[in-house]
Amino acid sequence: MQNIVILTGAGLSAESGLGTFRDKDGLWTKYDLNDVATPEGFARNPALVHEFYNARRANCLSASPNAAHDALARLQRAAPDRICLVTQNVDDLLERAGARDVVHMHGQLTRALCAGCGHGWDAPQVMAPTDPCPACARPATRPDVVWFGEYPYHMDRIDRTLMRADLFVAIGTSGNVYPAAGFVQQAAAAGAATLELNLDPSTTAGLFEGTRLGPASRIVPAWVDEVLAGNDGCQDR
Ligand code: APR
Repeated sequence: MQNIVILTGAGLSAESGLGTFRDKDGLWTKYDLNDVATPEGFARNPALVHEFYNARRANCLSASPNAAHDALARLQRAAPDRICLVTQNVDDLLERAGARDVVHMHGQLTRALCAGCGHGWDAPQVMAPTDPCPACARPATRPDVVWFGEYPYHMDRIDRTLMRADLFVAIGTSGNVYPAAGFVQQAAAAGAATLELNLDPSTTAGLFEGTRLGPASRIVPAWVDEVLAGNDGCQDR
């Protein structure tokens, strides 16, 4: 089995009922990201930010993994030391589908962080600005989610896996946000084949060798079956 790095975005969880950001009716058509997904927005109105993430946490809790999450977990189980699942998503649907060691570069809804001392812990379902940090007791708690203007998590590990990749696959992401949108070029420069699985062509579609269009719940299981059958899995379909 090849070394495969798989980057997922909101499109992976769209069919589980979790919103994407930039599609029609996407989250950024309903909220101003400057208010709910930046450190400045949090400083201005922490209650609004907690309300936004409390609602997303509740949606996530009532959602279920779809066939695409299940297929990626199945692929990882078949070759855990060959498959690296990197996600921009903050939901835990890959974990609930049985995936392990998912690299959440934008953080996780299930985690909380103290803006005062940096302590992290499992987030309660509902958070409020007055919640005291379990470590330092300061009322400075925030969702452990990476906001615009902040540095994503696990970048060293992601860089290392891209250098070793034989195949880089992007699933359900529009290619609008860096550094994730640049991974395809990083992987190709290191000699990897590249494939995009998406509902519509992303803004970086032209950088991929292979493209398959369709809903993730259909095209991801089909692709995983091909790879598990021993095909290199990087042709167009
Ligand atoms: N199957 C496959 N792809 C889908 C589906 C589906 N059912 N539904 C939507 N998509 C695709 C869309 O075509 C689009 O290309 O998913 C992508 C969603 O794009 P965005 O809404 O921009 O989400 P994403 O790329 O994950 O955003 C990246 O931006 O706002 C920040 O931190 C946030 O992690 C997020 C980052």
